[in-house]
Formats: sequence, structure tokens, C-alpha cells
Amino acid sequence: MNRDNRNITGHNEENLLSGKKYNIITFGCQMNEHDSETIAGMLQQKGCIETFSKETADITIINTCSVRENADKRFFGTLGQLKKIKEKNPEYVACVCGCMMQQQHVIDTVKAKYPWVDIIFGTHNIHRFPELLEKVYGEKQKVAEVFEDADDIVEGLPAKRLYKHKSFVNIMYGCNNFCTYCIVPYTRGREKSRRPEDIIGEIKRLVADGVKEVTLLGQNVNSYKGKGADGKLCDFADLIYMINDIEGLERIRFMTSHPKDLSDKLIQAYVDCDKLCNYIHLPVQAGSSRVLKLMNRRYTREGYLELVEKLRNAVPDIAISTDIIVGFPGETEEDFEETLSLVRAVKYDSAFTFLYSIRKGTPAAEYEDQIPEDVKHERFNRLVEAVNAESAARNAAYVGRIERVLVEGVSKKDETTLSGRTEGFKLVDFPGSAELAGSMVDVEITEGRTFSLTGKLV
Ligand code: 5AD
Ligand code: SF4
Repeated sequence: MNRDNRNITGHNEENLLSGKKYNIITFGCQMNEHDSETIAGMLQQKGCIETFSKETADITIINTCSVRENADKRFFGTLGQLKKIKEKNPEYVACVCGCMMQQQHVIDTVKAKYPWVDIIFGTHNIHRFPELLEKVYGEKQKVAEVFEDADDIVEGLPAKRLYKHKSFVNIMYGCNNFCTYCIVPYTRGREKSRRPEDIIGEIKRLVADGVKEVTLLGQNVNSYKGKGADGKLCDFADLIYMINDIEGLERIRFMTSHPKDLSDKLIQAYVDCDKLCNYIHLPVQAGSSRVLKLMNRRYTREGYLELVEKLRNAVPDIAISTDIIVGFPGETEEDFEETLSLVRAVKYDSAFTFLYSIRKGTPAAEYEDQIPEDVKHERFNRLVEAVNAESAARNAAYVGRIERVLVEGVSKKDETTLSGRTEGFKLVDFPGSAELAGSMVDVEITEGRTFSLTGKLV
């Protein structure tokens, strides 16, 4: 098909995408998962059909993550596999998007070494993807379109949700923090907050569609700065109070918060808002104030510990999880031991632990005192041991408690077992039948393990 088949508004008179099978491979965080839901939603609107393997698809989209090096490696591995599929089926359309594509050196590599890629797009022009795809089908040409940043937030995009009963909701995009190890501010651009009305409207529609739990997404939700149609400013705590009033919604979560911006007003919201789950993911990154300074985190060990104390005083049974990086440039044994002692002091419910990974273009990549790999691994293992011991102890203390659980579905291991999440985001397995999926039930906890709980329906 050529240009003549397009009308002047740029819409196709004939839908080139109808009936095409697509497969999305997603790497990285919830933000990426949600972007993939949007891509799927737009393709469904065009009449495409989802398939769960790249071999049976007409179109494969790889949504990339650039936060750590192992995600890069997995991406290039997967991209290599697409070559064979394309050789067998020249009509196959290979697309890559996401954070990695916001880096020019990655685009150059993809173009030079992976010439079977048809479409490259970025994090700021997801909404343009169906049009780019039509271009590939219609004009038989490859496209690369990546914007450095976006001026406006595009509203009203559809999403094909992974779950019926819970949903992600973006409240802001981008990050202004420039932690020295992190690539995100370069790939996701500057902070932009959605308007409160748009967020509330979206959540109301989700609730009408059966959603009971929303997870508000942003790189640093605590710095949300919305502006209402009336011109009034709305901060993150204000937004939580507004969402808490939405009838039919049962649970509110959010990801991720930055300790430097966590306000007393938000802590009060935990007390006042019954729908806000008693759970917080509060990335600490390191336990030594010296390393935190090198990381440009803008809080100290003591400040973080005070914050945790304040949270626990206000919300005694709040579950806390975190992110920790080991082997940041210049980290000494003493610095690392401060991380271990912080883990023991906070008693995290769970923690994601990462080996520091050099990210080209970030300040820390230029630091001279990079830590040797063997030292990083040795510290990593000790950290995991400490984190797991705390998780196991926290989870063991749940035995005998009755927890409200949102049932996610049948367990992957066994058809007679259901899996769900407690308010504190702990995974619980318990005997039950599939029709309970999506409902809220009370479960008595009978066993607490390192990564999950076991229980029985009350
Ligand atoms: N190396 C290792 N971990 C990193 N993270 C971000 N950048 C890096 C890096 N260069 C971790 C942080 C962040 C989480 C999403 O990923 O802990 O909170
Ligand atoms: Fe990266 Fe720091 Fe922004 Fe989080 S707050 S996305 S770690 S720069």
C-alpha cells in the first residue's frame, strides 16, 4: 500500500494492522510493564491479536531496560534470536523500544549490527507506534524515531491490562534527581506530572471495569506536582486523599518514593486513608552517609533511619521494602558494613539487592575507584544473607495473624492453591478454588518463609 491510500488526516482508510499477531517482550520495571500494556492496548484497538511467543508472531516488540548491564545483555541476546525468525519469514516485523533506545550509542549499535530491526522508537513517543508500524507495512521502509524529551503528556491511550482486578496508573513521568549511578534521568527525561483530574478519571474508569487495587507509578512519586483545572496545586499526599475517596476502589499502592521527599503529610495520609496499604518501598541504596553523598541521594543514614522510625510510629505494622546497591565506586569494607548494619536496624520485609553496574554517561561511570568484581560479589552474597534473615524473621512473625488478601489467581505450582497479596505486599499461598480470583478474602497465616507466607481461608 502506498501514500495514496492515506487520507489527509493521516489515518488509513484500510487498516493494515488488522489480524496481525504481536508479541511483546518486556524487560525492567513496572513503568516498562505498563508501557507494554499501553502498546498492547493500541495494537488491540487496531485489531491485532496477542500471541505469547515470538516465533508465532507477525510483529515482535522488545521493550528494553537500561538500568543495569545484565538487562542490556539479555536484550542483545533476544535481538539476535529474531534474526533467524526474520530469515524464515521476511514479512516479520521486529521492533525495539524503551529506555535503551533513548541512548544514541545503543541506536547506532542496533542499526550497525542488527539490520533486521524494522522499528526503533523511544519512551516519549509510544503513542506514535501504531503509525510507525503502518508506515513499515505500507511503505516497506524501516523507521527510527526517538525524541529526546516530551513537552506534553499524551492522555487517553488505551491499555491491555495484565490483571483484571489490579492496575498500574502513571501519575508522573521522568526524574530530576540525577543519582550519580542512574541512567533513568537521561532516558526518561525531566519530571512531568499528570493532572489530578486525568488520574482520578482514569482510576474511576478502572474501578468501573472491576479494578480493586491501583499502583500509582512514578520514578519519584513524592515529588508529584499536579495542577488542577482550577489552577490549584496538588501534591502527592493531596492526590492520595482524593483517590482514597473513590468509591469501589479498595487498595492504593505506589512506586517508587525517594526518602528525601517523603513528607510528614504523606505519613499522615497513611493514618487517615483507609485504602492506602500499610506498605512502602523506600529505596535506601546504601547505609553509609559517605556513599550516599557520592551517590547524590541527598539524605544521610541517620535521616533515613529517622524517617523509618517516624513511619513505624505512625503506622506500627507498615511493611517496608528497599533497593540496595553494593560495590558503588569507592565503597570501603567499613561503608559496606554500615549497609549491613542498616539492614539489621531497619528489619526490612524484603529488599532488592543489586551489584553496581557502570552506566555510560552517568557521573559514577567516570569515578576512578571502581570496585573489583570479586569484591562486589563477595559483599553481595553477605548482603543477601543479611536481607534474607530479616525477611524470614519478619515473615515468621505473621504466623497466627489474619490478613486481608487480594487473590491474584491459581498458584503456578499447583491448581488447588491460590496466590494473593497481603496489604503489606507479601505473597500468600493458600488452598482455594479458582473462582476466588480477583476477590478479597481473609487468610490466617500458618507459616512464614523467606519470600512468602502460607495460610488458610478463614
Ligand atoms: N547499578 C546497579 N543498580 C542500579 N540501580 C539503578 N542504577 C543502578 C546501577 N547503575 C538500582 C537502584 C534503583 C533500582 C531500580 O535499580 O537500586 O533503585
Ligand atoms: Fe534513578 Fe535516582 Fe531518579 Fe530513582 S531517583 S530514577 S535512582 S536518578
